[in-house]
Amino acid sequence: MNHRLDSHRHGSLDRIIRVAALLALCITGGHLVPVHAQTGAAAPAAANAVARGRYLADAGNCASCHTREGGAALEGGVAFETDFGTIYSTNITPDRGAGIGAWTEAQFIRAMREGLDAEGNHLYPVFPYTSFNKVSNADLTAILAYLKSVPPSKYAPPANALRFPYNQRALMAAWKALFFEPAPFAPQRNQSAEWNRGAYLVEGLGHCGTCHTPRNFLGAEDNDEALSGGVYRDKIPGGEIRRWTAVNITQAASGLKAWSVKDIADYLKTGHGGRAGSFGPMNEVVTNSMMRLTDGDIRAMAVYLKSVPPRESSSKQTLSAERLNAGETLYTIHCGTCHLPTGLGSTPGSELGPPLVGSAVVQAADPATLINVILYESKTVVPAPQRAWNDMKGFGDLLDDDEVATLANYLRASWGNLGGEVTAEDVAKQR
Ligand code: HEC
Ligand code: HEC
Ligand code: HEC
Repeated sequence: MNHRLDSHRHGSLDRIIRVAALLALCITGGHLVPVHAQTGAAAPAAANAVARGRYLADAGNCASCHTREGGAALEGGVAFETDFGTIYSTNITPDRGAGIGAWTEAQFIRAMREGLDAEGNHLYPVFPYTSFNKVSNADLTAILAYLKSVPPSKYAPPANALRFPYNQRALMAAWKALFFEPAPFAPQRNQSAEWNRGAYLVEGLGHCGTCHTPRNFLGAEDNDEALSGGVYRDKIPGGEIRRWTAVNITQAASGLKAWSVKDIADYLKTGHGGRAGSFGPMNEVVTNSMMRLTDGDIRAMAVYLKSVPPRESSSKQTLSAERLNAGETLYTIHCGTCHLPTGLGSTPGSELGPPLVGSAVVQAADPATLINVILYESKTVVPAPQRAWNDMKGFGDLLDDDEVATLANYLRASWGNLGGEVTAEDVAKQR
């Protein structure tokens, strides 16, 4: 479909905008990425541009979204489930028919910058061109050189199964007019080269905001609240959907205030650092993308993140002495051995657990991830020699909804932590 907005005959602009907004909300409001394998295929990096492009493609984590479980590298077909149907990622191998082998450089740059396919049809923002538009021409050209070097695949992903009118790509024009203004990354002269490199990677290829920035009621990233915490829905094996908070990663007290540059760098590069170990959807970001970047680039991202102004999204709660006591008892029995009675945790390498004082997961305004980490085994995919801690087992079978809520509130109301009330209903929703 390639209807232009101005030739749409079925309603007023107003109605189109409303439908487009709804569509966008459904599509971007939480896409679901099935757990799948990382790309194994390695392109022989003969040309410099190809090697550079491969590195940049890792920074952009193309593989997490374009290589499906059991599929060849980058041939697409990863399903993104939305309330209004399913969107499949495309084949971006150099096959001339099924992939992007026949695309010109200009067409590729336009897709990455403006979210338009080769024919000029609007692409859905599940594809994070809302971040990729910050990427430089030179880097996009290198990425294309890499994509053209991978083995071509004739695989055709299934057609999107979106219901009418959500299958009308033209409606995205209205959404883009409201919320999307492609602009190349603008370096800040008063900041160091390292800071600028970090900002470029976090806001551009790294697309951290896709998950960590909250979205407004029309499904667009709310830039005033950038990186202060978003919601991410993940499809787990078996098809079930699990809701996660992508926590506040600004310098707010409920964000990364307690983390040093080294803590952030270690976490991104290895999945474990002085403050936390990765689990859930962040595992794939670490293994498919961050782990493959140079120490210099990782440090630059950490330096930039340490400078992101605090955007506090969590509130303080006071617990009655009775509820505090109930929480403390549960904590002492089930948690204190690893996280310590003080909540300060143990040092990485001790195989016990990270600090809960100042933890972004504990204090997140939306408690979904905190509840998940208590209910389910927090399994990291980080290989053993690099791990600071063992996995934490799940307490879902041991504790009922009320007990999990009591524990969560205890963690949020203790040790100077923030975080509003968690109810048994909140816990039930995560089961
Ligand atoms: C968060 C998931 C995600 C990430 C990360 C991602 N893509 Fe995509 N991409 C998609 C989806 C989904 C589509 C299909 C969108 C549609 O049909 O409207 C797509 C479409 C595209 C298209 C348009 C292809 C066509 O035939 O129209 C190109 C080109 C592309 N992606 C390249 C890349 C590159 C290069 C990277 C890494 C730098 C990347 N993508 C990372 C999800 C993603
Ligand atoms: C696919 C969605 C997604 C993307 C993309 C993403 N994150 Fe996350 N991130 C999450 C979720 C969900 C959590 C909470 C689960 C966890 O802590 O492992 C999280 C947690 C974190 C944490 C805190 C961990 C903790 O335990 O306190 C940091 C730091 C972080 N992400 C940094 C980043 C950076 C930097 C980027 C961009 C390079 C990024 N994330 C991209 C989903 C995402
Ligand atoms: C056997 C040791 C152990 C026990 C017991 C334990 N944990 Fe953990 N916990 C861990 C480890 C290890 C991690 C880091 C996750 C990873 O690396 O996979 C963790 C992570 C967490 C996090 C995420 C912190 C962050 O900022 O990323 C929270 C919250 C948490 N645990 C709460 C609890 C609660 C509540 C209990 C009791 C019901 C508990 N833990 C019991 C070891 C433990």
